[in-house]
Amino acid sequence: MSRKVFAAVLAAAVSFGLAGCDSSPPPERSVSFTAAGDTSLGEGAEAVLDKVKELDPDFNVHVGDMTYEKGAEKAFCDMVTGKLGADFPYQLVAGNHESNGLDGDIDKFVECLPNKMPGLQGEYGRQWYVDVPQDQPLMRLIMVSPGLEFEDGELDYSRGSKRWQWTESAIDDAREANIPWTVVGMHTPCFSLGRYDCEAGQAFTNLMIDKNVDLVVHGHEHIYQRTHQLGHGQECPSMSVDTVTPECVVDSDTSLESGKGTVFVTVGLGGRDIRDVNSRDPERPYFAAWSGANKSPSLGTLAVKVTSNRMEVKFEPAEGHSFTDSFSISK
Ligand SMILES: [Fe+2]
Repeated sequence: MSRKVFAAVLAAAVSFGLAGCDSSPPPERSVSFTAAGDTSLGEGAEAVLDKVKELDPDFNVHVGDMTYEKGAEKAFCDMVTGKLGADFPYQLVAGNHESNGLDGDIDKFVECLPNKMPGLQGEYGRQWYVDVPQDQPLMRLIMVSPGLEFEDGELDYSRGSKRWQWTESAIDDAREANIPWTVVGMHTPCFSLGRYDCEAGQAFTNLMIDKNVDLVVHGHEHIYQRTHQLGHGQECPSMSVDTVTPECVVDSDTSLESGKGTVFVTVGLGGRDIRDVNSRDPERPYFAAWSGANKSPSLGTLAVKVTSNRMEVKFEPAEGHSFTDSFSISK
């Protein structure tokens, strides 16, 4: 090759290389997931799974209460894999119906729908966390089981207990590792417009707020309910069940700022019968949106997408239903 031709080839290669570099910025990294609980077997559950398939998230989190009947674990797993494929990460944590084997056994669900997320730590099905993606994570998902009766008794999440400390460290370590978002999931809510008391425990719920966990997802109540962003401060050092302190609401619109507090969302609408919302509940001022049998009844799933500086959360109704709700949190 002559020197002139070589120079021309080199120039072309360099300009091609540069064009390859700066033609467009790399796509923004993101993680998406869906979450709901209280499924059962049947048309409702299938409609919600169809919605999950349509949304095509990176993974799904089931927040407990799967079949509501004994011995149907395999039927449930087959329904899920039939809709979403055997490789799809359909991640589990127990609800009160399968924690003690009453209407199914969490250990059998875990056998037929095993963990599919790399790097998961803890005891899958009961108490675990995972960073997503594994490399340069955008979020840490922490799943816990306060307020549930297992065969060996209720797990202890009281202040200072081992499980309290495990949860606290999981949140703190994520912060220390500069993982942008923290999401906690558990079957039982505390504040609620449904029928149950604070089964997650008041102190443990306050821990979520103390730590500014961005989003907490529950099942148990077969309704949708989303709180405002709730935060601790001088006027709201701690939150109490059934007593409203207006100062605990740090932001009541739909554009929230990360690090100011926590949003609690209950999505017990994975397929089971929908129940009434009690809009006269004393805790109502803490809530931004709700849906139930007596107000826009809708089965569906929560759909969450995070990037390094934004979390978008939406309730996606299953086909034939129409309720929706959405909000975002920015860094
Ligand atoms: Fe349930």
